[in-house]
Amino acid sequence: MTSDSLRPWQAPELTSWGRLPMSAVDRRSGALSLDGDWRFQLLPAPDAPVRDTWSSSYVPGAWTMQGTDDLPQYTNVRMPFPEFPPAVPAANPTGVHEREVDVPAEWAGRRIVLQVGAAESVLLVHVDGRPVGISKDSHLAAEFDLSAVVRPGERASVRLTVVKWSDASHIEDQDQWWHGGITRSVLLYATDPLHLADVTVRAGRHGDLRVDCRVRNADGALPDGWYVSGELDGQLLTQDEEFDRAGAEDERVSAFLGEARLQATVPEVRAWTAETPELYGLTVRLHRADGTVADTSRHRVGFRDVEIAGRDLLVNGERIYVRGVNRHDFHPLTGRTVSYDDMRADLVLLKRFGFNAIRTSHYPNDPALYDLADELGFYVVDEADIESHDHAHEIADDPRYLNAFVDRVSRMVLRDKNHPSVVIWSLGNESDYGAHHDAAAAWVRRHDPTRPVQYEGAAKLDWADPRLASDIACPMYAPIEDCVAHALSGKQTKPLIQCEYSHAMGNSNGTLADHWAAIEATPGLQGGFIWEFWDHGILQRVNDGRPAGRGGAGLYEGGVAAPGHRWAYGGDFGETVHDGAFIADGVVFPDRTPKPVLYEHREIAAPVRLECFRHEGVVVGNHQHFRGLEWLSFAWELVVADGPAVTVPARLPALRPGETAAVPLPFELPEDGGEAWLTLRVTTADDEPWAPRGTVVCLPQVRLRAAPSMTHVPVADRSVEVDEEGLLVHPLLTAAPTLSLWRAPTDNDELGGMAARWREWGLDAPERKVVGVRRAGGRVTVRAEYVTRAGVVRHEQVFTAVEGGILVEESAELPEALDDVARVGSVFETVAGLNLLEWFGQGPWESYPDRCTGAPVGHHTLPVDELFTPYLRPQESGGRHGVRRFTLSAPDATGLAVRLDRPRQVSVTRHRAADLAAAAHHDELVPRPGCVVHLDAAHRGLGTASCGPDTSPSYLIPTGVHSWAWTLRVL
Ligand code: GAL
Ligand code: MG
Repeated sequence: MTSDSLRPWQAPELTSWGRLPMSAVDRRSGALSLDGDWRFQLLPAPDAPVRDTWSSSYVPGAWTMQGTDDLPQYTNVRMPFPEFPPAVPAANPTGVHEREVDVPAEWAGRRIVLQVGAAESVLLVHVDGRPVGISKDSHLAAEFDLSAVVRPGERASVRLTVVKWSDASHIEDQDQWWHGGITRSVLLYATDPLHLADVTVRAGRHGDLRVDCRVRNADGALPDGWYVSGELDGQLLTQDEEFDRAGAEDERVSAFLGEARLQATVPEVRAWTAETPELYGLTVRLHRADGTVADTSRHRVGFRDVEIAGRDLLVNGERIYVRGVNRHDFHPLTGRTVSYDDMRADLVLLKRFGFNAIRTSHYPNDPALYDLADELGFYVVDEADIESHDHAHEIADDPRYLNAFVDRVSRMVLRDKNHPSVVIWSLGNESDYGAHHDAAAAWVRRHDPTRPVQYEGAAKLDWADPRLASDIACPMYAPIEDCVAHALSGKQTKPLIQCEYSHAMGNSNGTLADHWAAIEATPGLQGGFIWEFWDHGILQRVNDGRPAGRGGAGLYEGGVAAPGHRWAYGGDFGETVHDGAFIADGVVFPDRTPKPVLYEHREIAAPVRLECFRHEGVVVGNHQHFRGLEWLSFAWELVVADGPAVTVPARLPALRPGETAAVPLPFELPEDGGEAWLTLRVTTADDEPWAPRGTVVCLPQVRLRAAPSMTHVPVADRSVEVDEEGLLVHPLLTAAPTLSLWRAPTDNDELGGMAARWREWGLDAPERKVVGVRRAGGRVTVRAEYVTRAGVVRHEQVFTAVEGGILVEESAELPEALDDVARVGSVFETVAGLNLLEWFGQGPWESYPDRCTGAPVGHHTLPVDELFTPYLRPQESGGRHGVRRFTLSAPDATGLAVRLDRPRQVSVTRHRAADLAAAAHHDELVPRPGCVVHLDAAHRGLGTASCGPDTSPSYLIPTGVHSWAWTLRVL
């Protein structure tokens, strides 16, 4: 099998050999687990001789994460080797895994099957030295019938040889780390020779249930008198006799494959949706003629319909919003292998932050993920393991790869078709568009007419063309305006649901709320899938550059790796071909700590909203599709600028989905107290499978009263100390306020080209020239010029002694050429010891002008060290939007207070922008003892230009004069 004449790793026509068909019959329970330590050796090439010396490797697990010299490598589009498909390099790491298995004696006479959950990328199976099978497709299980090669009651030696690079690597060119190994569990199980080969469940929202069973006999013929029965939550289902009769007349059916159908209508069915994941237990039994049970298959049934009506995707007849995320299999310690608990934790977190949909980018996930999605309530776009990004055009019509496309798509559908959570099939990702896609789509549409098919590579040719292999217009990173224009064009024929949008690399996801405002305002737009869930940073030891592996458990917290460790990205394992930090583009850190964008998402997805405040009260709306408010608990919170917040429990009227009601204001608004806001604290009323009772679901807010403008009483008998350079001298400041135009470039700034322009302009360190210092009465006016390579920025600061402190009035004039700077504002540094920030403004989490809807206005308090968000590649971080005032204090309550003329962007961190920009990893940062404080008159939006649109023009900083004012007071 591995002779010179046959090289299965370079034969795309060969998708498998000896591999059993896929089915929806789940054999995990009752199986013998073969997980654990296996004998292991890594060969330099698949045809290198196996040696006598073995080490060991944990299965499931990638060897690239387990101490071998073959380390993880990250590339996005490009293949890690130059060979053209289907060729691969001669140096081709090959892992040989071996162990003995005691085959249970009670399996005598049974059909014995080996299941390898996933192997990357070619699996060759030998038992007792005899070849048993071959399989490709790194993200689906491969099963092999061992009945003829093992003997129950005896010991067998199983060898799993995994070849890393193959023809299949060229169609597994997803944007992620390359690994090698067996990455999902290995099982051995036994069935009766006559067994349930497949069970197909169709269950509609009105309670109609149809279960089609295929019975297969290992020897061929089916004996007389055998039958199938079913039980749904204790209710017996019987075989459909009409179907049986029709089958009996049809020779083709009864000769080799037995088919049986069970039918029922469930009265008053509790329909399944992502909001109401109601499941019924179905047990299908295959009986011998004497009634004894030969085989059993258990399923969980969700009664639901998915259809496309016009340009709307409907679930149970309702047009839903798809609040999705793209999720890869990732773990910082294993690289690829994820446990049930990991998957559950991922989904629980997504649920808590308002997501209702997952695209399994870019391959089928572990079967348990779909069980969890059924159970917790997610709409899943199930995606086949096909991405030929680097050689997309060649492969999409290369006949040698046709089998692989159809095989991968059909195997996924065969496996996952009974999951109510799966609502759309995806043919793969970024593989151009060729006849292979049409072939695969045709197979799916025939086999499963109950679900739409999508494929971005087809849809992008024309969002509206019905002939293409995509029932959904599923672009990636389309600008909001293009989506809206399409929906308004009158030409839309399909639902528009972006398969990827809002790229979460670093400090990102600007304009997410604008996307959703457009989606909710525009019929025809239904949402999309944020790119992506994870920052794929691998926990790495800094001393030897090795992955920490499973031994690294607990060596991280709050998104930060423990001392001596870091989150590795592309290039950190010494790869020369790599794509750097582009692998860190998720809404969670590598340890699943949420990034601030998630709080924004939670609010955007709020099931209950405060629509507006009118004199008679606030208008509350139910924004769910299927549920009332019974599962939620409410409290009103009145937030006033000059006083503590007051909270009272709230009772809301019963609202059906889509309904609104006016609710009287629960509070008398205090006469004084300035600006006032009303927050509705929405929490879970009971324990939910994904959240304990009392978990925050959303915090919608309306403004009740605007802030009065800032007034100051000048004091004549005190002056402000300013040195000859025009710099403020102040006991609490170690660096006086100067003008800042720059931020440590975010990944969006870098990849979008803004950072390069800023460097060209010299924005990071413009030369400051004092033009004049004028003292008049208690006022000092300082005029300075900041010289950039694109012109001079004139800056004026007027310092006035006012009651309680110093008033600083500033203006800066940006010349025409500086038409897109990072910020315009003041920066200063404080003495050490001021470690606590208390502010009135948006918070408590990080927010920026185009990513701030989720942060309610209130009184917030955080230690300075917790304000900073540890983005993997250090960059602008820790900003708070809409800050009206703050104090920065030491434990003895001394410190300083700043009040701003109006809500402004503020950041308080331990790092200068230049410190951040100079570091490549978070662990290289050395916190300064004092605080670096930025008060911004204007701060550029974040956008998503690392992949996709930049921020909208309204979040760019215009040229011309910017003015701002603030007071500085000593506590
Ligand atoms: C998309 C692709 C994803 C990922 C993303 C950028 O084009 O489908 O796999 O590469 O861009 O992070
Ligand atoms: Mg790609």
